[in-house]
Amino acid sequence: MTVNALKHPKAKAWVEEIAKLCAPDEVYVCDGSQAEYDRLMKSLVDAGLGTPLKKRPGSVLFRSQPSDVARVEDRTYIASKKEADAGPTNHWINPDELKKTLNGLYAGCMKGRTMYVIPFSMGPVGSNIAKIGIEISDSAYVACNMDIMTRVGTKVLDALGTDGEFIPCLHSVGKPLAAGESDKGQWPCADMANKYIAHFPETREIWSYGSGYGGNALLGKKCFALRIASVLARDEGWLAEHMLILKLTNPEGKVKYVTGAFPSACGKTNLAMLIPTVPGWKVETIGDDIAWMKFGEDGRLYAINPEAGFFGVAPGTNTDSNRNAMESIKENTIFTNCGLTEDGDIWWEGIGYGAKGELVDWKGNKKPAPAKDKSPKGEEIAHPNARFTAPARQCPCIAKEWEDPKGVPISAFLFGGRRPGTIPLVHQSRDWNHGVFLGSIVGSEVTAAVISDQVGQVRRDPFAMLPFCGYHMGDYFQHWINVGKRAPADKLPKIFYVNWFRKDAGGNFMWPGYGDNSRVLAWIFDRCDGKDNAVETEIGFMPKDGAISAQGLSVSPAALKEILSVDKEGWKKEIADIRKNHYPKFGSKLPKELSAELDKLEARLK
Ligand code: OXD
Ligand code: MN
Repeated sequence: MTVNALKHPKAKAWVEEIAKLCAPDEVYVCDGSQAEYDRLMKSLVDAGLGTPLKKRPGSVLFRSQPSDVARVEDRTYIASKKEADAGPTNHWINPDELKKTLNGLYAGCMKGRTMYVIPFSMGPVGSNIAKIGIEISDSAYVACNMDIMTRVGTKVLDALGTDGEFIPCLHSVGKPLAAGESDKGQWPCADMANKYIAHFPETREIWSYGSGYGGNALLGKKCFALRIASVLARDEGWLAEHMLILKLTNPEGKVKYVTGAFPSACGKTNLAMLIPTVPGWKVETIGDDIAWMKFGEDGRLYAINPEAGFFGVAPGTNTDSNRNAMESIKENTIFTNCGLTEDGDIWWEGIGYGAKGELVDWKGNKKPAPAKDKSPKGEEIAHPNARFTAPARQCPCIAKEWEDPKGVPISAFLFGGRRPGTIPLVHQSRDWNHGVFLGSIVGSEVTAAVISDQVGQVRRDPFAMLPFCGYHMGDYFQHWINVGKRAPADKLPKIFYVNWFRKDAGGNFMWPGYGDNSRVLAWIFDRCDGKDNAVETEIGFMPKDGAISAQGLSVSPAALKEILSVDKEGWKKEIADIRKNHYPKFGSKLPKELSAELDKLEARLK
């Protein structure tokens, strides 16, 4: 469609202004149709950027530049007017200065390219929790991914009307083309020093430049649905969180909905699609990465998944770890930075099977196929942050209510991370504020989802929002405390801290994880159902002896006991670390309720 399809004068004026600045050859407004998707995808294949996969109908493999494989936290900015409003955990630049720099980079940056105007809805169109954005991008790869990850096109423009609100999201790969030049199979992006993922919280704008990677370029996801939405949520009294949403049904057919916040690449997608090993229980998926929650008239928090697809980490995904994800990616899927087999399929480390002949690795080099499902160290075929982009509707365990505009009422919040020691398999907070305390101290080993020299080290990642909170983290903690005052305790979700990643002295995982996590989910469900299945400890409520089903579990009774007990010495060190290295970062913005929780925990452990 042409710019005339925009009946919203402000949106049209913005698109025209950006077109003037970026100077694309052409401006195209996306209608969200299948024909459009097919056309754009074909243009990417014709440009040598995508390889259609013979083995997976409607699926295409892309290889990025080696410098453009993950989110770039060092180049991600919260440009609030005052530095203090971005807080100690965000990179800040003065917004006027940043706009000046970026305006310089955007000038003429789309020469030789088409400028796609992508109207999208985060959440089911028309839901009172959903919000609209318009992404401008010079990448057809981005337009196709947005088509899977969000609801795109004419229906969104209809919902926007002539005066609806939208978040303007500007994206360029930062690689203009000279007359007659084409990408010729080279993933377009800018040098690291010229990548900017910029957020302007006061004016609610997103400006992204220089990267084509999902989390930096699909602006509905981390930039809008978390960084900008967290600011909207603070101002409007709701929650925008880095959380999966799952539906849990017990053997009697009773249903509860649970959300869970875990840092990037900690298994949120696997947990959201889990196949329980506890007989009679069922898990279905509402979302795997982001939850937007608002109070309903009954005083409970209702969650929607603002996304419409999964942008999942490929390596390690297989029919044992996540059969439902493997089913979801059988067709109509975009793969990025995976290996390619001789017979036209994808391959990655941990896929569960070897491959024949030669493979093409994520850098485009031919390599002998590893016989097993692992390649020798240092010789990776897929990048560790290789991704699949798949429509949520293709997931065999998607819950029938996943697009319910009202959302689903939440009974429990889970927090978790990769912690080799101290944190037990599961414990429940004593009350709301203690739960906020638990969220505030989440820590995890850093994974390949981000380009960082901290990979492998434990870093604090409060609420799994460290890279995604669009304002001062101390104010964010306060917002959580305030949310707890909005409803009586029995209406609020109960809060749990889980840890699937405990290791023994030899460095081996002590808990099998995956489907066996259903044993913990079942305990949590019963706990929310008022069952007498817990004991009170210094750190909160923990499963009574035998309350975690151990039938058929491959964990020794001694190991189970260890991961279900309070490691007093470990917690004392944890408290000392929080006191010395974590909480002081937030200065006077640390809510007094949280320092009080830390004091109380210390006193209980004495
Ligand atoms: C993601 C992330 O891609 O958290 O979901 O990095
Ligand atoms: Mn995520």
